[in-house]
Amino acid sequence: MPILKINDETIRQAAACIVKGGIAAFPTETVYGLGADAFNPDALALIFEIKNRPRFDPLIVHIAALNSLEKVVDLYLLDNDTRKKLDALTEKFWPGPLTLILPKQQSVPDLATSGLPTVAVRLPSLATARQLIALSSGVVAAPSANPFGCLSPTSAEHVFAMLGDKVEIILDGGPTQFGLESTVLDIYNKQPRILRPGCVPKEAIEAIIGPLAESQELNVSDGDQGALSPGMMKSHYAPRASLEALDLETLLITPVEDNIAFLFFDGASREKWQKKQRQSHDPHEAHKLLSIKVLSKTGNITEAAAHFFQSLHELDKPEITRIYAQFAPEEGLGRAINDRLQRAMK
Ligand code: TXA
Ligand code: MG
Repeated sequence: MPILKINDETIRQAAACIVKGGIAAFPTETVYGLGADAFNPDALALIFEIKNRPRFDPLIVHIAALNSLEKVVDLYLLDNDTRKKLDALTEKFWPGPLTLILPKQQSVPDLATSGLPTVAVRLPSLATARQLIALSSGVVAAPSANPFGCLSPTSAEHVFAMLGDKVEIILDGGPTQFGLESTVLDIYNKQPRILRPGCVPKEAIEAIIGPLAESQELNVSDGDQGALSPGMMKSHYAPRASLEALDLETLLITPVEDNIAFLFFDGASREKWQKKQRQSHDPHEAHKLLSIKVLSKTGNITEAAAHFFQSLHELDKPEITRIYAQFAPEEGLGRAINDRLQRAMK
């Protein structure tokens, strides 16, 4: 029975599993991660195998305290300006859902960074995650706990459904706080730029370190090794059903058929859509069986992000062949939601 309610005892068990080279799934404030000792190449290889993840897609290394940063990052390679930016960002956003790309220490195995000279590192804010990291090796590599390309897990049940037969332990800390992955920010190569939009919005980062470089579209085809962020492949985070993301105007005129599902950003949009349905259909010819979800009734973007993967997991039922999803407003966390929607379109 791999799902264990998270507490001091089960955290110790999971830490022991990681120390002996095993893999344990655990909650963070963003999504559930698959944890392995970042300095154990065999354990890292196991992560790639379990996730069926291409080896060119590097992992995020998680630390439990700021003073562990130098174990994985060669801080001497940073110039003064970058060092200042690093200090300002960690002061403001750590612990929390910001992943930084920095020059790696030689001792970090190539498997963790896919041979790149840089390492992705983050200090999570969820206290139980830090407790687990501190009790295991202090440095835990953890990708999201989903098979490569699938929806990210925001609950222990998601992990169990997708990887239950492959991991020894799943620590259950309930649904995650943010529901989306961390923001990946490169502050080492050239001008700082976001490689993956996530829980920390661009605007908040720019308020601390000034303007970021435009993230060029990273619609890299699978297998392109020259990618700036090798994990940013176009098709990613996808449900089993095909997904189409649309703006409200297009959603309103999308023909309703059986076996489709709708994901609305807010309650007002859903109401507009229902009104339109009532106008254009015989009320008795009900599409009652339609699966419909709303990310946030009031249009609260933080709440919408928290419900995003959960809603897609729920809509992605075997009988559903297509999910129509409404784009979020393109600001703050909305950018991260829209990024996942774009990538979920196959
Ligand atoms: O919220 C999160 O970040 C979650 C939780 C578990 O912490 N983890 C996560 O890991 O989302 P993963 O492996 O699913 O995504 C890691 C992302 C990938 O897009 C990868 O390409 C990028 O980070 N990445 C890792 N190392 C990199 C590097 N050295 N340079 C550029 N991108 C890197
Ligand atoms: Mg992932």
